[in-house]
Amino acid sequence: MKIDKSKEPAKLELRPGLEGVPVTQSSICDIDGIKGDLKYRGYSIAELAQKSSFLETTFLLIWGKLPTSKELREFEKEIQMHRRLSFRVRDMMKCFPESGHPMDALQSSAASLGLFYSRRATDNPKYIYDAVVRLIAKIPTMVAAFQLIRKGQDPIQPRDDLPYSANFLYMLTEKEPDPLEARVFDRCLILHAEHSLNASTFSARVTASTLTDPYAVIASAVGTLAGPLHGGANEDVIKMLEDIKSPDQAKNFLKAAIKNKQKIMGFGHREYKVKDPRATILQTFAEELFARFGKDEMYDIAKALEAEASPMLGPKGIFPNVDFYSGLVYRKLGIPKDLFTPIFAISRVAGWLAHWREQLSANRIFRPTQIYIGEGERTWKPLEDRSIN
Ligand code: CMC
Repeated sequence: MKIDKSKEPAKLELRPGLEGVPVTQSSICDIDGIKGDLKYRGYSIAELAQKSSFLETTFLLIWGKLPTSKELREFEKEIQMHRRLSFRVRDMMKCFPESGHPMDALQSSAASLGLFYSRRATDNPKYIYDAVVRLIAKIPTMVAAFQLIRKGQDPIQPRDDLPYSANFLYMLTEKEPDPLEARVFDRCLILHAEHSLNASTFSARVTASTLTDPYAVIASAVGTLAGPLHGGANEDVIKMLEDIKSPDQAKNFLKAAIKNKQKIMGFGHREYKVKDPRATILQTFAEELFARFGKDEMYDIAKALEAEASPMLGPKGIFPNVDFYSGLVYRKLGIPKDLFTPIFAISRVAGWLAHWREQLSANRIFRPTQIYIGEGERTWKPLEDRSIN
């Protein structure tokens, strides 16, 4: 007989997907999903995206304050010095199947760092600082390295004269980017750097709460980010826009999708009941690039889809999220669509590390409970006594 403990008198309330359940306190990021407002450590995302750099924002997220110019210079220098990968990591990556997804390559490569830096001292500030520097520095190099390796080439070394984002685009494309491309890319990283307790950050905090090493924390978060309901949606948005083919097909696509209860990728959010502020900012980045380098017709399809979706999904609070327009920016930078989610990870590693540090500062292992609904006590039978069913 099946047991359903939810029907017992002292019943626990089940909240699927933990919707609305606070599981920690945090001072890193604040979202107002009704106003469409996002702040990192009290600073508005629009202001940071306009005035800050990704590494300055990373410093802010992880250490809770904007750096002085000396602190920023030192942090940038440290990151620059740790960008290279051990030849062993590169050789390991050469053994990955080139048809594999770059997110899987990134998860494996990030986890492998635990083999090289195996000391675990999560109560030591120097250990924490070194791990932060190493991860922020090496994750982009891993993404770029796999891109060249899967094309049958050797990864190229980082260039010490290039700042963080320009260097990543250089390692990826083998050419120095235009300053506008590098700046837009850096601003995209700022927008994606942190977003409170989303699935991958929760994953990072759960892993962190066991006091394991930070490479395992980041690898578990990368694995969680990869799914299409989370970071993987940015790749699926472009596939969906390719399928729609032209702006005048947007309405039919939408009607059919809604009828078939199919999700529109890049739409909807657990926290926002209005358009994600990051989606609006990403549109301005896309338009800046189009004004300089020429329009992408796919942008018209995206805008037509948003316009058609507004009366159909808007009343339910379903609007474009960060993943809806980001791929259009990356496409214009010449980046293949299966690298969109790894790029999200390059940026989000800043938020994950901020949460790792915060979790360690007041740690208690995550161990929620469940409502058991399985069988009651059963008696084991030998094989010959079991019926086919
Ligand atoms: N298209 C159509 N209907 C939707 C969508 C969508 N994209 N999102 C939610 N709904 C509907 C859903 O069908 C349900 O309707 P009903 O109440 O009639 O059954 C209702 O809205 C609630 O949906 P839910 O899936 O229970 O909402 P959730 O808070 O659990 O999920 C979400 C949030 C982001 C996973 C979801 O909106 C979704 O699957 N969106 C598409 C994938 C996507 O764009 N993901 C990126 C998320 S934002 C950035 C990131 O995390 O990477």
